[in-house]
Amino acid sequence: MELQKVYQRAISFAAEKHARRGQTLPDSIIPYSVHLSNVAMEILIAGSKTKGFDTILAVQVALLHDLLEDTYTSAIELEVEFSKRVSVGVQALTKDKYLSREIQMKDCLNRLKELPAEIKAVKLADRITNLQYPPFSWTKERKKNYLVEAELILAELAGCNRYLERRMKREIKQYRKYARY
Ligand code: NI
Repeated sequence: MELQKVYQRAISFAAEKHARRGQTLPDSIIPYSVHLSNVAMEILIAGSKTKGFDTILAVQVALLHDLLEDTYTSAIELEVEFSKRVSVGVQALTKDKYLSREIQMKDCLNRLKELPAEIKAVKLADRITNLQYPPFSWTKERKKNYLVEAELILAELAGCNRYLERRMKREIKQYRKYARY
């Protein structure tokens, strides 16, 4: 299937599920799907700059990446509607809420390490877009933790996508002004 068709199908599917939960961007009235399209935009550009990059796989995972964590969607549903690879990718990007908060990210990164570079690239793209500016309600402590976590993601997924890694380094540097450390 063409990339454009795949994109439209995935964003409509995801946008509806997030909208059903009334989800918006944090501290905002903007629909949550704007976050999804921002992550997909990073992936499309990274795909155009990366040899052998499976953009069809990565863009679907980018658009669907928060469905299991935030909406009433199951891994089986993703497999049936999209594919097994897409479902496995989204599962790896989903925090295990039964683990304690402190080890959730580390567990996520460990699972991502077993998967193709395209799935790891979605993790970077997600954080790159979220580093643009913090939600108004976040404390300095929270912003600082977010930055430390971003550095961990970058270190743990090193080598997955040079273009996105460069972008993420830049975003981390710029975000320091919010966390001041
Ligand atoms: Ni996200």
